[in-house]
Amino acid sequence: MTWNPATWRSKTAAHQPVWPDRAELERIEKELASVPPLVFAGEARDLKAKLAAVSRGEAFLLQAGDCAESFDGFHADAIRDKLRVILQMAVVLTYSSGVPAIKVGRIAGQFAKPRSNPTETVDGTELPSFLGHMVNDMPFSEGDRRPDPHRLVQAYNQSASTLNLLRAFTKGGFADLHRVQAWNQEFVASSSQGQRYANLASEIDRALRFMEATGLSSQHSEIHEAELFTSHEALILQYEEALTREDSLTGEWYDCSAHMLWIGERTRQLDGAHVEFLRGVKNPIGCKIGPATTVDQVLALCDALDPDHEPGRFTLISRMGAKTVGDNLPPLLEAVKATGHPVVWACDPMHGNTFTSETGHKTRHFDDVLAEVGAFFQAHRSVGTWPGGIHVELTGDDVTECLGGSEEVHAKDLGRRYETMCDPRLNARQGLDLAFRVAELLTGEEK
Ligand code: PEP
Ligand code: CO
Repeated sequence: MTWNPATWRSKTAAHQPVWPDRAELERIEKELASVPPLVFAGEARDLKAKLAAVSRGEAFLLQAGDCAESFDGFHADAIRDKLRVILQMAVVLTYSSGVPAIKVGRIAGQFAKPRSNPTETVDGTELPSFLGHMVNDMPFSEGDRRPDPHRLVQAYNQSASTLNLLRAFTKGGFADLHRVQAWNQEFVASSSQGQRYANLASEIDRALRFMEATGLSSQHSEIHEAELFTSHEALILQYEEALTREDSLTGEWYDCSAHMLWIGERTRQLDGAHVEFLRGVKNPIGCKIGPATTVDQVLALCDALDPDHEPGRFTLISRMGAKTVGDNLPPLLEAVKATGHPVVWACDPMHGNTFTSETGHKTRHFDDVLAEVGAFFQAHRSVGTWPGGIHVELTGDDVTECLGGSEEVHAKDLGRRYETMCDPRLNARQGLDLAFRVAELLTGEEK
């Protein structure tokens, strides 16, 4: 029962790469165990306090970013544009609904992917599947697909520079609310959602001017700075263990690779290594739950991962699919409510709605995304619980990966800019569109 950062090693870890060079992996683990932490325990506690407000129904969680970050095309512009759409969505949610939005990126560490099959066969050749840039590379060759532990160091380094830039953007002027109009990038501004956003931004400008004119200073840090926390799926446990540090203030263990970590739908086995590892770190943590999740499983996850009923500690991220969420979620909500566990409930409307288009692209339809979020809200209304947040895959770029949206992406458009490393993401317009719809759901003004 006693926990330490290595106790997961005596359990079975699902969806792990087969590392061909164990000695090199061990050397890299030692190297990573001595590097500076990426985030601090105090920041993780701060996020936990904010998620506690979500668990009480006083705030809303916006968790968003790439399905998988890439070592290629690692540029400041892409990070800025992703931050920009997250800031826009948060402003829409907060201004329209009056509920604070807690921003958590799938960013600065989201480099590892569980896959349905451990191997892929092309023309009779079988190679390991692509498991994200933290493990191997995408091209179908033996060298590219060979799991390489040096990638763990590269993931750490890229996470550090991404986080450095995010800290600069959020604290150094870019995220100032006085610039709320300037976040509306060109290809978004021309769309109907962009126009709607521009109107809302003008109102915010007016409100800020009003505050200043009445002598109510707008010199608060909340106006000039934004707060973006980081998160990723804690899949490769050697990496997570190596970045786990004992907090000098409290003597508690924190996984300092990100503020929040989550367990995927495929690795949430109660007796598995992922649950074992994450139960011992004090960060806020999440767990995905798919359509087949039972009441017993959810209650056992709550007990294993949040035995002390600590508000803000545990987020359940349901990803049931638009068609099943209405039937499958309410019994889980009822059961958790009856135990008094103060969990945050978030809706991932992406992973239960993936299909292959007639053009052969893995895609999702924006209507299904909206339908799942709508049914998620409906389920919470019927049970009397708080629909605490959304968890979405998006990018700031003008990609064509998900169908639909008010500037409709059609199946024939998918090949135009299909750039994801893994799952199809909402583009910035679709992200903004979603934020407006969620704001309507929050205020009960949905059509
Ligand atoms: C993901 O979030 O990219 C993912 C793989 O999700 P899930 O574990 O819910 O399938
Ligand atoms: Co994904």
